[in-house]
Amino acid sequence: MAALLPPLSPSITDMIRMDHSHVLETFHQFRPGTAVDKKTALVDTVCLALEVHAQLEEEIFYPAVREVASDVAGVDKSYPEHDEMRRQIALLRGMRPADPDYDRTFLELMRDVLHHVADEETTLLPEAERLMPERLHRLGGEMARRRLQLLGPRAGELGWSALRSFPEGALVMAAGAVGAGAYLMGSVRDALPRPWK
Ligand SMILES: [Fe+2]
Ligand SMILES: [Fe+2]
Repeated sequence: MAALLPPLSPSITDMIRMDHSHVLETFHQFRPGTAVDKKTALVDTVCLALEVHAQLEEEIFYPAVREVASDVAGVDKSYPEHDEMRRQIALLRGMRPADPDYDRTFLELMRDVLHHVADEETTLLPEAERLMPERLHRLGGEMARRRLQLLGPRAGELGWSALRSFPEGALVMAAGAVGAGAYLMGSVRDALPRPWK
């Protein structure tokens, strides 16, 4: 009978943490001396993952948090931070990897993203888990469905390497939940070349 039960979706907060972990994982493969093809694939993968992730948060997660508490720290400032991220992504897409500013722009994007992720993981996600525990799995299901809608038309853009960055289904249960902003910030500091530390 158990097979007839609808599968329980992972919670939206675990899905968000898993997205963050995958972006970090991809970012850590980036090196200034990486071959151009691989570098382009890494940057394209990160940019698409960030775009989809930000849209999912804006459409589903942030409004749900606002419904249960209008004054949760972090929601209001997240929108302009996402907009800044989109601006940096647009800049990158207008460049070629050989451009002198390409690596610097990507590292600036990742530095800002890591600050944003650290804030979400230390404040917003724990608050959501405290304020609306009964809604997290249903919202996770909504997020999974919407992600597939958003990715469908773009699946051919980047191929398998990009799709691997988008966790779905049960795999998300293994969510890194590294959880600690300090860990995330430490990771990005370790990964950045010295002038960025
Ligand atoms: Fe965000
Ligand atoms: Fe996020």
